[in-house]
Amino acid sequence: MDNRPIGVFDSGLGGLTAVKELQRLLPGEDIVYFGDTARVPYGSRSRETILKYARQDVRFLLGFGIKAVLVACGTVSAAALPELTEEFSVPMAGIILPAVRRAAVATRTGRVGLIATQASVRARGFERAMRSVRPEVTLYSDACPLLVPLAENGRVGRDDPVTRLVLEESLAPMRGRDVDTLILGCTHYPLLAEAIGAALPGVTLVDSGAEAAHFISAAREWDRAAPDREGRTRYYVSDNAEGFARISGLFLGRPIGHSVGLVDIETIL
Ligand code: DGL
Repeated sequence: MDNRPIGVFDSGLGGLTAVKELQRLLPGEDIVYFGDTARVPYGSRSRETILKYARQDVRFLLGFGIKAVLVACGTVSAAALPELTEEFSVPMAGIILPAVRRAAVATRTGRVGLIATQASVRARGFERAMRSVRPEVTLYSDACPLLVPLAENGRVGRDDPVTRLVLEESLAPMRGRDVDTLILGCTHYPLLAEAIGAALPGVTLVDSGAEAAHFISAAREWDRAAPDREGRTRYYVSDNAEGFARISGLFLGRPIGHSVGLVDIETIL
């Protein structure tokens, strides 16, 4: 048995889509969440910058004596995961393989869409994963950079006129491709799942954050916490703790106001 916490990080709110599922699957585990709200978005940055940020995020979490890391960020998973797993000895999982596996099982037509950040699409990690899991599937990828700011600002409702307009434009290329399954390859996007579902009716949506939570909860590289204990989650951000608490409380369905700590992530070497 191992009661040390699991570390989870993202550039902002998106990783909460994984935390929510992890809390449901493993209620006895302590979780430490870090959202790099001072430097979001990661998806429009260079690979070098993403790697630098991700290293600092992992080092911050290591300070809590964590037993595993869930990289709940598609961008870091796509652009930096091989380097991170090589550099750090703590067991680590990203979102790409879990999301691709789910999509490969879900598709009936073999036509799957991927929406993700610019850096994730550029890295082509989802394509590589799909080739290894189910090579006959055709994957159509689009970067949707305007979706992260919508999620970070809580503009996620399907009736929000700005959200509708942004989704209409962002999803227009996907409409003509007749996909039956769409990977939400950025962990922010499941926050918009209802609105995306309304814009692409009949398409099965794959929540990459939730799939990653399932994946890590089944991993054998780390030991579970003692049975019957109640896990607690601590939240840290690098900016605007109040804004994070407000929007994440809405998403998680319970107030987290007093438990959000502020971190100067730039000072972590
Ligand atoms: N939620 C992240 C991802 O899954 C990052 C979005 C961003 O910071 O651009 O890609």
